[in-house]
Amino acid sequence: MADRKKGLHISFEGIDGSGKTTVSTNLYLKLREKGYPCFYTVEPTFMRVGALIRLHASRIRNAPQYYLALLFAADRVEHYERIIRKRLEKGYFVISDRYVHSSIAYQGGLLNDPEWVRIINNRVPPPDLAIYLDIDPENALRRKKVSGPFEDASLLKKIRRVYMELVENGELVMVNAEKPLEEVLGEVTKIVESRLNLDLSS
Ligand code: TMP
Repeated sequence: MADRKKGLHISFEGIDGSGKTTVSTNLYLKLREKGYPCFYTVEPTFMRVGALIRLHASRIRNAPQYYLALLFAADRVEHYERIIRKRLEKGYFVISDRYVHSSIAYQGGLLNDPEWVRIINNRVPPPDLAIYLDIDPENALRRKKVSGPFEDASLLKKIRRVYMELVENGELVMVNAEKPLEEVLGEVTKIVESRLNLDLSS
């Protein structure tokens, strides 16, 4: 049984266009409806380093990945220390749209060096549960229709490959995000119930 006094951190992962925001928001609302104290957050953040990353992502397409990896890691330390840790100490469920596995998959995949990315992120603890929404990159690009820094099928394939390794080693729990939304939401609810020993049925 999970220690409720300590709170629980659930992160959502996936390539751009996998539906993370819709699915994570749905879980947040469901937990809130059940009366659990919960907090929703995203990475990159809107704090100091997060704002800098957002500027790079929108204006500078060729920023070196090593530099971006360090910025994402710095943003995460600030996120954890100033936001996540405090909420967990108060017993909240913290739902985050992206966390450490995004860096391992994106920067690790693009640099072909996930272990280095893991090392620079070892100042923050892993989440209690990380859910990965899997989608074929071509389908994700068709769904999203807007362009961002990593929206190229060959880059997304490299990123997906690392996510799959993280599923295989048990760090991520995979959900097929190509299924109809209601099914995806139902599967996510079941995973949260069984992994965290909760009852979210209405
Ligand atoms: P978003 O589309 O989920 O808002 O994420 C913004 C972009 O930042 C997305 O393309 C993924 C990327 N990203 C990384 O490359 N590494 C990271 O560590 C994080 C948190 C996001």
